[in-house]
Amino acid sequence: MVARTHILGMGHAVPDNVVTNDDLAKVMDTSDEWVQQRTGIRERRHIVSDCGATDLGKIAAEQALDAAGLTIADIDLLVFATLSPDIDWPASATLLAAKLGAGAIPAFDVKNQCSGFLYALASADVLIRAGRARHALVVGGEIHSTGLDLTTRGRDVAVIFGDGAGAAVLGPSPDPERGLLSTHLHADGKFAEKLWLEGAASRSRPRIKLEDLGGDDPVAFPRMQGRYVFKHAVTRFPEVIHEALEASGFTKDDLDVLIPHQANLRINEFVAAALELGEGKVVNNIDRYGNTTAASIAIALCEAVRDGRVAEGKLVCLAAFGAGFTWASALFRW
Ligand code: UT7
Repeated sequence: MVARTHILGMGHAVPDNVVTNDDLAKVMDTSDEWVQQRTGIRERRHIVSDCGATDLGKIAAEQALDAAGLTIADIDLLVFATLSPDIDWPASATLLAAKLGAGAIPAFDVKNQCSGFLYALASADVLIRAGRARHALVVGGEIHSTGLDLTTRGRDVAVIFGDGAGAAVLGPSPDPERGLLSTHLHADGKFAEKLWLEGAASRSRPRIKLEDLGGDDPVAFPRMQGRYVFKHAVTRFPEVIHEALEASGFTKDDLDVLIPHQANLRINEFVAAALELGEGKVVNNIDRYGNTTAASIAIALCEAVRDGRVAEGKLVCLAAFGAGFTWASALFRW
């Protein structure tokens, strides 16, 4: 029988620079009260100097390798999830592989926004179980701060995003009873324009124009119909969590820990109530980091592994919803 895949080690990295809601209120018309009430975010991290998503990813990946007791020489697959690649192309995964000193291993990006880490995890799992790799590095990393409209015009989006990275080393589970039980991936491009970044687009020549930076609705910054996204999120999250539980014959009562994507604390509270998950079963850290899209689940899982909330034998569900729309889940017997 093919061994289950498991996470053998994790790491995460955020910039040192803390940006509070009051800091943002100095450059745009917003307030600590508004941001905390609507999103649960108190602060996020923004880079201050030249730093790409792969620079944070490298720190997270090295921690994950240490935690797994492995070196980069043991890794034969690298998947990098990001919507903010260091450069447009080549793939940031290849840049990260070079920074880590990897050999000529397969390396590719997954560009699937908030669900990116789970899409990357699912891809690596399939390749490992097919015998195409033994140990994979799966990294989610984002630098949002350099691409946000940090004025009142962009305040709905700008207050929610933060920079960060998280990494996991995947390999065969040492125990046949433990590891990744299933993954579930979904997408529906009908809703793409509800949360998107249109510029720089290959369909326009040149790809980015000066006027794209100005105007009331600039395509050079991410744009979101927040309420619309919120309504879909609170439907899709419970659906995809139930899907994961049912695939292995579990119910919501069997679930020990839920690690949801960190987009809005109110969404996660709604999901916890819908699933009647007791106090302490849902891991949230959005108050400290904001929404780090492809990095958010990896950072939250890493913190929960380190502080013991995710421990051997627990039934752990990871779940995501975001731009695309895309949504996904993964279920582990830890
Ligand atoms: O990770 C990807 C998935 N993303 C999500 O899941 C995000 C889902 N959506 C949300 O989390 C919420 O919709 C937001 C937190 C983004 C916005 O909260 P909301 O309660 O839906 O606010 P709204 O967009 O309906 O705006 C309400 C008011 C508006 O003013 P008026 O028109 O009522 O005068 C906005 O202009 O709040 C205003 N507003 C702000 N005020 C202060 C919007 N952003 C801000 C802000 N500070 N940062």
